[in-house]
Order: sequence, then structure tokens, then C-alpha cells
Amino acid sequence: MTAPYMVAQRLDGKACAASVEEELHARISTLKQAGIIPHLAVLIVGNDPASHVYVGSKVKACERLGIKSTHIELPSDSSENEVREIINKLNADESLHGILVQSPLPKHMDEEGLTDLISPSKDVDGFHPENLGRLVQGRMDGMLPCTPSGVMRMLKWAGIETSGKSAVVLGRSRIVGNPMALLLGAKGVDCTVTVAHSRTVDSRDVCSKADILIAAVGRAEMVTADWVKPGAVVVDVGINRVDDSTRDRGWRLAGDVDSSVADKAAWLSPVPGGVGPMTIAMLMENTVRAAEMK
Ligand code: GUN
Repeated sequence: MTAPYMVAQRLDGKACAASVEEELHARISTLKQAGIIPHLAVLIVGNDPASHVYVGSKVKACERLGIKSTHIELPSDSSENEVREIINKLNADESLHGILVQSPLPKHMDEEGLTDLISPSKDVDGFHPENLGRLVQGRMDGMLPCTPSGVMRMLKWAGIETSGKSAVVLGRSRIVGNPMALLLGAKGVDCTVTVAHSRTVDSRDVCSKADILIAAVGRAEMVTADWVKPGAVVVDVGINRVDDSTRDRGWRLAGDVDSSVADKAAWLSPVPGGVGPMTIAMLMENTVRAAEMK
């Protein structure tokens, strides 16, 4: 067994997000002086409790910053056509700068087809093919997906060197894993990137060679200390609910990374208080940017 390396430093997403908000305050007051109030519409369909919590946090962040938000809720048995009509209306609304459709949508809806309808200039999630396509081309001037760009901002803020480092992204989702790998390999960041996924042979061995490990699989505490290189930077993107009878509510939040990793990594992002607040901060930044570009 490898000896414990150290107690990992905390990659404090909450503190980093607060510094992003500080910068945004100044940009928002400049916009307001020019008579522009940044305005974000958030559409949620159905009653997934976790999605409602995330949307609530996004709306609260808007309130904190003086960004106007319009919150639209539809029942889970709504038709795809109803969602399509709302998106078309929001696209046409000149007073609105950003549109976010909370994922996941109910299973009977074509989520990607609906995302394609959002005007790329209002696509503050960065999920539209035009924005993702720009990212694939290495053009960083489009809307970047919030969770991966939040991770990059947090690494930079903590002064973590990326050039020439080996990075492993565990998970290849449309929202996190894939764009994360592109950002880590981009010019100027310059990691050598490997994506590990459900068909990877021996993910543990692949991850254990990473200088920078991004865990984004959505499986509670799957990454244990033996998956981690001593002194690695470990970013935990997971937010999982696990049963816990010792808590009054009967559950607790857990990341994809086990607490044993804290004795081996040099840096570790906590859950909660790591990537979550950064995702929201990047959403706010994209909304302000969309308003500035108008
Ligand atoms: N569901 C989980 N994360 C996200 C996100 O960043 N944006 C949207 N729209 N839905 C999500």
C-alpha cells in the first residue's frame, strides 16, 4: 500500500464563485447604467426534486446579483410541442438574454432536439451544437458549458499548473465529461487528456496515472484512494443522494470521490461547496456576457 501523501488542500468552489460574483457585480452595474438589465429565463419540466433544488439555486444567484430571472415550470406530462413553443417565444423576446432548459427533461421528450432550438446567442448553458462546435474547433469565444468551465476557472484560481500534465476525465456525458476533456486539452491549458468511461478496461489503473483527475460518473464514492496518484489534483463533479438513516431526512449528499482520497491527493474539491457553486457562477457570467454582447 502507498503511504498517505498529505491532507489535500480544499479546492474551495464557494470562495472562487464569490470572487467571480464580485467581478460580475461591477459588470452588471455598467450594464444597468446603459439601461440594460441582464435577464435569464429558466424552464423546468416535471418534478425531479434535485432539478428543482438546482433551479432554486440558479434563481437565488440571479437575485443576489440583480439579474432578472423568469422561472417557468411545466408539469411532467406536458407535450414536446408546448416546450418548443415556449422556447420559440423566449428566443423572440428582445428583453431576454439567456435561456436555460433544465436537464433532464421527461423521457418522452427529445432533449437534444429541443436544445437545438435555443438561439445560440442566448444559449447560456453552452449546449447548442453551434457553441459546442466552436469548442471542438478550439474557439473559446462562444458560450462554454458551465460545469466544465467552472472547473477550469477553479483550477486557475488555485494556481494549479496544467501544461503538460496528464488529465483523466472519468465520464463522457454531453454536459460534463466531453466538454471537460476538450477544455483540458485546449491550447493554453495543454493537458494530455484521457477519457475513461463504462467500457474502459481497468478505469482504476487509468485514473491512478492522472496528475489531474476529474470524476464525473454520477456514482457515489466510487473513486477511492487506490484510484488516485499521490499528490494528484482531484475534482469531484458528482452530486449523489445516498441513504443515511443517521440523518433526520434519511439521506446525505455524496460526491463521486470517497473521503479516503483526502489523504492521498494534493488538492480535492468538496461536495457540496466545490463544483456546484462554480457551475452557477459560470451560468451568471454567461448571462452577463450575453447581455453585454447585445
Ligand atoms: N442538469 C444538470 N446540470 C445542468 C446544467 O448545467 N444545465 C442544465 N440546463 N441542466 C443541468
